[in-house]
Amino acid sequence: MFKRLILVGMIAVLIAALVPSLSNNAVIAQEGDDMMNPCGTEDEVELTIIAGSVGQEGEIVAEQVARFEELCPNVSVEIVPRPDSATDTIAQYLNFFEAQSGDIDVYQIDVIWPGILAEHLVDLNEYLPAEVIDAHFAPIIENNTVDGRLVGLPWFTDAGLLYYRTDLLEKYGLDVPRTWQELTEYAQIIQDGERAEGNADFYGFVFQGNAYEGLTCDALEWQASSGGGVIISPEGEIQVNNPETIAAFELAASWVGTISPEGVTTYQEEEARGVFQAGNAAFMRNWPYAYSLGQAEDSPIAGLFDVTTLPGAEEGMTAATLGGWQLAVSQYSDNVEAAVALAAFLASPEEQKIRAIEGSYNPTIGALYEDEDVLEAVPFFGSLFDVFTNAVARPSTVSGAEYNNVSILYFTAVHSILTGQQSAADALAVLEQDLLEISEDFYLPE
Ligand code: GLC
Repeated sequence: MFKRLILVGMIAVLIAALVPSLSNNAVIAQEGDDMMNPCGTEDEVELTIIAGSVGQEGEIVAEQVARFEELCPNVSVEIVPRPDSATDTIAQYLNFFEAQSGDIDVYQIDVIWPGILAEHLVDLNEYLPAEVIDAHFAPIIENNTVDGRLVGLPWFTDAGLLYYRTDLLEKYGLDVPRTWQELTEYAQIIQDGERAEGNADFYGFVFQGNAYEGLTCDALEWQASSGGGVIISPEGEIQVNNPETIAAFELAASWVGTISPEGVTTYQEEEARGVFQAGNAAFMRNWPYAYSLGQAEDSPIAGLFDVTTLPGAEEGMTAATLGGWQLAVSQYSDNVEAAVALAAFLASPEEQKIRAIEGSYNPTIGALYEDEDVLEAVPFFGSLFDVFTNAVARPSTVSGAEYNNVSILYFTAVHSILTGQQSAADALAVLEQDLLEISEDFYLPE
């Protein structure tokens, strides 16, 4: 019965979101009618959501939750910030789930975690109408579906981008780098020039070099854009120990302490953004969220940078790692219906549009990439559309519940190369063996 109420309520939210003339108030006006309840319940309930705090994520989620509470005065929502690092976040989530804790109702989960967390999450197919689900990019729905169960509603998608300073490329007469070799050379030229003019803190290139999930993303881009494969193919073939990947990682190691700070091996997203946004780097690898922060009025680099596809070993080669986050509802929640309603509200087209405009978070709904307001705020959502729909997936489907172990082995090996503890050839030979050992537990296609 409750499930049906949510279903009908969700249709109301969807209609309100898709038809601009119907505001949230229109939904509230229908609230007296039980069949139109977008809050999942009429009872007074308290929900807790654990969600991101990277960049301005925390503020934007708080605004979203405030709008939900206005729509649903009977539901109060507490927000618990997740750790910035995806690696720390999954460790914390597994603790909650192992204790079968109902303390958290809604979880923000990474695109790589459905296989790891499915057993603890409700099947959203049972609560949401097909129209709500089908509005999202089909490959993400497929990614979030484990054994036929939809365990996460797409919230935003992500892909690695190259940020570059337009003013500095012009000043030094350089083009946008199309190969990693060009990036290495141009970064050095600009770094030398800026330091000679007195900015001792200036660096050519910043990225995510810490030993955590973010390094798996960066290194997969170096590897895939060099023709070195994708860590583990969808068919289960281990692809790490090859000359292309060795060369790609050797080049990356050469950046540390030359065009990149020594400390880049401790950088996550926010450290890289901090350096770039302060005006102290020519190039940065980061996700789209850094765009709106960099273009904000108080940003020293507002109007002085742009984004494009990442370079490759040769011109025309490029790879962006697929990232992104979903909203999932815990099986241990005491208020599943209200929790699903909150998730559906936060991921609705109307809310995704606000998130795109305010925070350059990539929508998971195709139509929003043609929305004039979105394209005005974030023009590259249009010009780089293909990057977002063709990004390279980490091997989380094939490795399923083992994915976190795969990633830890991979980023630990890459980190040891970046810090000079091992040669790329040695580290990748060992990594290959380690991955072979755990590959027995992979889900291989029949
Ligand atoms: C971004 C991506 C996510 C990835 C993480 C790594 O948040 O969206 O998928 O795992 O970065 O740091």
